[in-house]
Amino acid sequence: SSSRDAATDAGRITRVGVVGAGQMGSGIAEVCARAHVDVLVWEPTRELTTIGRSRILQSLDRGVSSGKITEREREQAALRLRFTTDLGDFCDRQLVIEAVVEDEAAKSAVFRQLDEVITDPGAVLATNTSAIPVSALGGCTARPERVLGMHFFNPVPVLPLVELVSTPETGTAVRDRAEAFAEQVLGKQVVHSADHAGAVVNALLVPYLLSAIRMAASGHATAEDIDRAMVLGCAHPMGPLALADHVGLDTVKLIAEAMHAEFGEPLYSPPPLLVSMVESGRLGRKTGQGFHSYP
Ligand code: CAA
Repeated sequence: SSSRDAATDAGRITRVGVVGAGQMGSGIAEVCARAHVDVLVWEPTRELTTIGRSRILQSLDRGVSSGKITEREREQAALRLRFTTDLGDFCDRQLVIEAVVEDEAAKSAVFRQLDEVITDPGAVLATNTSAIPVSALGGCTARPERVLGMHFFNPVPVLPLVELVSTPETGTAVRDRAEAFAEQVLGKQVVHSADHAGAVVNALLVPYLLSAIRMAASGHATAEDIDRAMVLGCAHPMGPLALADHVGLDTVKLIAEAMHAEFGEPLYSPPPLLVSMVESGRLGRKTGQGFHSYP
């Protein structure tokens, strides 16, 4: 009921859980910690929590070296970050943001578990998915009205946008609470989207990235010239192939597949060059090799 919503959605969110400390999860955890929020981060093994922690600390260092935060702010942020390999530890979280691999089975398993362990009826369960139906993840829980998409952009500490993706079941109060957190606590700016693969940004961006990959594959222009053209001719901060490398070619492929599954549009189908690069482990910046090389 709306009066129950009003009670459960009152109060400031101070305890956040982030599931996954990869490229996106680590960035999300970092901005939460920088915003004075207590953050608990999950990875499946101790080794992966260690890697996640060092990824966040490295980015905080970069924040210090570029003058975005002070040494003291870095230390304080680091103290607000804790790590676990047990999702059961998320029982007291008021907001959980899931950022595991872009795979529906993996994300569904996380949502089923979160639904079991989280005790607060007012908790908000969010997914950072780019293209998997948020309603399907809500359907893995007994509280689909508490589930929505909170989609961040890489690098999370730098890019100001959060897309909020509501399903027909997402409660208005839940959406408002997530919006207040993104804007007032994290200092981000919000746009709203219906629950379609790619929300707003990726629905427009991914076909462009795939078109650039087809252009390179066909010999229309070199990778270097495609990127230089869009940087110099359109003032984009990076060209489409460098951006695909930055996002991760495996992730670009998974998003394209999910968009293709929803829309059936041939343009969204991953081009053979993308598929073969992913199969051979050339995933972009994170592996040192993609359309460009990263020493
Ligand atoms: N913490 C704090 N600040 C950081 C930072 C960090 N971890 N990393 C970079 N910065 C800051 C730098 O200090 C710098 O600040 P100033 O300009 O004030 O000096 C600024 O960010 C730019 O960084 P650099 O100068 O090191 O590098 P750059 O100018 O080449 O920019 C970039 C790098 C920010 C990545 C820029 O190229 C860019 O914005 N590219 C486009 C990225 C993009 O489109 N991302 C969205 C991808 S889609 C997505 O993420 C969603 C999805 O689902 C796939």
